[in-house]
Amino acid sequence: MAAESRPYFESATAEVGPSPDVVIIGAGVCGLGIAWRLAQRGIAVTVLDRGPVGAGASRVAAGMLAACAEAEPGEEALVRLGRHAQALWPGFAAELQQTTGIDLGLRREGTLVVALTADDRARLTHQLAFQQGLGLPLDWLSPAEVQRREPHLAAGLAGAVLSPDDHQVDSRALVAALTAAAERAGVLLRPHVAVAAIVTENGRAIGVRLSDSTLVPAKTIVLAAGAWSRGIEGLSAEARPPVRPIKGQVVTLQMDAAAPLLNHVVWAPGCYLVPRADGRLLVGATVEEKGFDTAITAGGVLALLEAAWRVLPGIEELAIVETTVGHRPGSRDDAPILGPSAVDGLIYATGHHRNGILLAPVTADAVARLAAGEGTDPAIAPFGMARFAAKAAAA
Ligand code: GLY
Repeated sequence: MAAESRPYFESATAEVGPSPDVVIIGAGVCGLGIAWRLAQRGIAVTVLDRGPVGAGASRVAAGMLAACAEAEPGEEALVRLGRHAQALWPGFAAELQQTTGIDLGLRREGTLVVALTADDRARLTHQLAFQQGLGLPLDWLSPAEVQRREPHLAAGLAGAVLSPDDHQVDSRALVAALTAAAERAGVLLRPHVAVAAIVTENGRAIGVRLSDSTLVPAKTIVLAAGAWSRGIEGLSAEARPPVRPIKGQVVTLQMDAAAPLLNHVVWAPGCYLVPRADGRLLVGATVEEKGFDTAITAGGVLALLEAAWRVLPGIEELAIVETTVGHRPGSRDDAPILGPSAVDGLIYATGHHRNGILLAPVTADAVARLAAGEGTDPAIAPFGMARFAAKAAAA
């Protein structure tokens, strides 16, 4: 037994029921989805989270299922993964809704990326040419076509890109549905249980040590702790996933649900707007490198509301019903880290950055497959930790 792991056994103060086959660190949409898929196979799963279930980035996420409109040069592999996830979403949502009776708020109006000025239009048409070159189904709409679809958008706008496949889902409804589905399938959810360290023995993960020194043994551990993934001890520096928190503030306004100002998801310079079916209008999001800072700032709210008002002036009459802050788990290349680690029995499912909700179905399927010993889904093969070492060696 490795010197670092023995004390955890000796200082263990409580046994935590029968030993699960898989322990998942992190009860966000990815951890919950993986747990659900594993439990459907009859595998015993425990999910641990330092806070309430789904209270990290999943709770704040706008839920944009955007594989097309946000595609940028250098992200071709990520776009393929996102498109694969988009294809999985209808079946994933239908299965979850059927299993739990919870409406996920999946809306299929698509996304508009709005140009307010001629400069915006030039930038967007350049980006559109790149995106269409990848075969993505995006179209340019004239100002009149945009106004016909969304009459409350600012007069005089310069056009928009329409992305008909970029839908949205209510991320909090998704958390509720995944929680219910996982519990029904037999998953043990343990919120407010902080993992201090992953315990290894002879290069193999054998369990996790909780902050109260209890050991939870497991055959397999999935690290799905979002922005907190790097801070969990017990791994060498190379095995810790290079994930950092990227702060995002979101302001939620309340529209009249019977006569909403907006129906599509809209991207505009400086903000995005996401209208929920119940009339909430999410205005997001700041992108801040401030660690785990949780302040809602005047500057953040001002910037979001000013940008939102420029594209949708009618928001000035709307009530602010919520301000929230979350921490995206950003990796070095903004793509997720999915797959086995150098430590036997430890699997990564982290680093989803802006795409955790979009990638939840493929993460659930592929990581559960791996944890169940059924091999690597080719969809996630490009997203292992090894890519960082390969890039460093090539540099
Ligand atoms: N995906 C939206 C955001 O990261 O703000």
